[in-house]
Amino acid sequence: MTMSLSRRQFLGTTLAATALPRMAWAAPHPLRAEPVVSQILDAGEGQTAGYGFNGSTPGPELRLRAGERLTVAFDNSLPEPTAVHWHGIRIDNAMDGVPGLTQDPVAAGDRFDYDFVTPDAGTYWYHSHHQSWEQVARGLYGALIVEEATPPDVDHDITVILDDWRLERSGALAGDFGNMHDFAHAGRLGNFAKALLPDVTVNRGQRVRLRIINTATARVFPLALEGIEGRIVALDGRPLPAPRALDEMLLAPAQRIDVIGDVTDAVRFLFPTPEEAFEMGRLNPGQDPATPRETPVTALPDAHRPRPSADARALTLRMQGGAMGGRHAGDDIWSFNGVSGLPDAPWARIDRGETARLTLVNDTAFPHGIHLHGHHFHEVNADGTTGDLRDTTLLMRGETREILVVFDNPGKWLLHCHMLGHQASGMKTWVEVA
Ligand code: C2O
Ligand code: CU
Repeated sequence: MTMSLSRRQFLGTTLAATALPRMAWAAPHPLRAEPVVSQILDAGEGQTAGYGFNGSTPGPELRLRAGERLTVAFDNSLPEPTAVHWHGIRIDNAMDGVPGLTQDPVAAGDRFDYDFVTPDAGTYWYHSHHQSWEQVARGLYGALIVEEATPPDVDHDITVILDDWRLERSGALAGDFGNMHDFAHAGRLGNFAKALLPDVTVNRGQRVRLRIINTATARVFPLALEGIEGRIVALDGRPLPAPRALDEMLLAPAQRIDVIGDVTDAVRFLFPTPEEAFEMGRLNPGQDPATPRETPVTALPDAHRPRPSADARALTLRMQGGAMGGRHAGDDIWSFNGVSGLPDAPWARIDRGETARLTLVNDTAFPHGIHLHGHHFHEVNADGTTGDLRDTTLLMRGETREILVVFDNPGKWLLHCHMLGHQASGMKTWVEVA
């Protein structure tokens, strides 16, 4: 195609493009899943062979602006099938990347074009949704950042990925993926945890935005920050109407937290334990202290926040099974309401625009992070008031929580535990919105 374009014309189009303030990707963004080797252990120690995108894990950070269109020419160069899911984003159902529900798996050597508009600013991520308990653990994920039309005033916008790995001494990934013991307990917990940070220098006094993403397949990360004075401004990509104090945080697998704050010292990402805090990563301050802004951290511009209707349809989702749990009627380790795995018919058929009040009951001995595709939902606070908007909600053992979902996005949407081994061994279902 480009053969007919002369060099002169080509330069002309390039210059024209750079003169525009900001454009949606004119050409599809290439994304290739492939085996990669990475330095997860400290430099000088062994390397880790796994999977990644475009030569690395995490894959490239895809960054665009709200309302823009993302086209991805996906190429599966793995020796096995896969598919890419765009976690947390309100997109066209056909692009959701769920084999068995929205597309066929992309076979080894095959391609697939993902193409969707990203309507809402926020911190999202993408990951394999095929054999995800293994492929995500091998490294098939990356950040998807959608910027506000007018982003907040910060000096650095930094993506922080929290993950853990189960490694041999050599640095190799332990090969026991998908064993029944992990599935029936908390999932594949790693023996090495780390905050993956870009190589940037921040200075004391500078204001930074941290977009923290938990990409682990099972680990619920407690997180404390040092060296920054700030506020929590968003959860799972949705702005908080009022920024919140930066206390110790908890992130279930797939959850995100955005923080904006001013650097006071080395910014340390700490995993608190009863004895002492383990440092998962840090941003060292440079030699150029800045004069801190006097302005407070304010709320991000409001985003899509559908209003739940008062006459919501009541539905109950009971998590059952697992080790030390009760018996259930499902035919695998875990179930929702006694059904394991994806049923042929949806668990619920919902009219577009209808509100549902889902009572999530954790009738098991383990925590679960329950994720709904294609929508955010309101957690209902213990006092009955409407709480945070999230796409993944964490229920500790024995806990019950109501959520309010305005099902405003048509299609077939997965509802599952984001402890990916639990999902693999039964804890998933789907709803149809028409
Ligand atoms: Cu993060 Cu069903 O996915
Ligand atoms: Cu679970």
